[in-house]
Amino acid sequence: MISTDIKKILISEKQIEERCKELAKIITDEYQDKNPILLSLLKGSVYFTTYLTKYLDFPLEFDFMKPSSYVGTKSSGNVEIKMAPLSELKNRHVLIIEDIIDSGTTLKKIKEMLIKDYKPASLKIVALLDKKEMRTADIEPDYTGFVIPNEFVVGFGLDFNEQYRNLPYIGVIKEECYQK
Ligand code: IMP
Ligand code: MG
Repeated sequence: MISTDIKKILISEKQIEERCKELAKIITDEYQDKNPILLSLLKGSVYFTTYLTKYLDFPLEFDFMKPSSYVGTKSSGNVEIKMAPLSELKNRHVLIIEDIIDSGTTLKKIKEMLIKDYKPASLKIVALLDKKEMRTADIEPDYTGFVIPNEFVVGFGLDFNEQYRNLPYIGVIKEECYQK
């Protein structure tokens, strides 16, 4: 059982659902007539993408891209694109959906790359979680679900070495589980 590896639940599924409804209202106002492309960053943002977008009430399209991921619990600082977006993003309004911003390195590099190579009409970011105190890169999400303390979290799409993504809440794993 993976749920027994969890030390504490930081944010419950119900809290996430409620926050997604609130964010969706704000985003619906902003994007009503823009037919944006929602660019979900794989794999961590998959749950957030589905929970958030079911409450969005305007025409939109989906796309996905995959930056390189963490090994273990620390960011390497090097970001590669493992899977590029399939849509024509040029002159389109693009909203990046991200699971978590930590140092901000990943998003800053992705944002710069997208603007340079794809020339979207606009580019904004919605992040479910923000470890604000850890930020080193000069970047902020335009919409944020929750600001959280500097703890390594899993669940609701987020992983530790590819595990725990399927937990329905945001939780912290027990120290001994990092050795597994
Ligand atoms: P950054 O480049 O340091 O902002 O890292 C962002 C990426 O690191 C996120 O998209 C996640 O994939 C991963 N990440 C950062 N913190 C956590 C965490 O607490 N749990 C799981 N993944 C994390
Ligand atoms: Mg991610």
